[in-house]
Amino acid sequence: MDTYAPDIEKILIPAEAIQAKLAEIGERITQDYTGRSLLLVGVLKGAFVVMADLARYIRLPLEFDFMAVSSYGSATKTSGVVRILKDLDHDLENLDVLLVEDIVDSGLTLKYLLKNLAARKPASLEVAALLRKEGIQKVPLDLRYVGFDIPNEFVVGYGLDYDERYRTLPHVATLKPEAYNTD
Ligand code: IMP
Repeated sequence: MDTYAPDIEKILIPAEAIQAKLAEIGERITQDYTGRSLLLVGVLKGAFVVMADLARYIRLPLEFDFMAVSSYGSATKTSGVVRILKDLDHDLENLDVLLVEDIVDSGLTLKYLLKNLAARKPASLEVAALLRKEGIQKVPLDLRYVGFDIPNEFVVGYGLDYDERYRTLPHVATLKPEAYNTD
């Protein structure tokens, strides 16, 4: 963690605020799905941190599955064309599915995933996203649970990376400009 400290410009969301918000969302999910069992679907790699913490705030029987996707485009922009690198192990038919996302930026990745998952006929399909960037969603998406709306800046930490770094930071932060040129 400390190795990354010099690269941080500003902490946008402190660790304690993230945990408090996830506890609140976990409680809502517990209420909303009482009597049912849920399949949490995480989108690798970014969602593994939020998935691990959120799951422990949900007081229901849970199963887990993961997908890995890659979007064509540069490191900091998505094109909306998504390639599935690892598909789910579960057959979704008649399952209550909650897709867990780290961040919704343009929303193009999520739109593609929702269409793909809906075609597998789950009993229900909802989304929990820790972060949503304000005002730039290219497609309107119905997100049932959202942690924080953040400005349109590139952020790292809490699972989010820049060039595979910073995922282990406990907070969500912006990087100093120098941190982008470290070759
Ligand atoms: P979207 O398709 O534009 O919504 O992009 C979604 C994906 O892009 C996320 O799941 C992240 O992997 C990545 N991404 C978007 N914004 C950021 C950011 O600010 N920091 C790190 N990754 C991001």
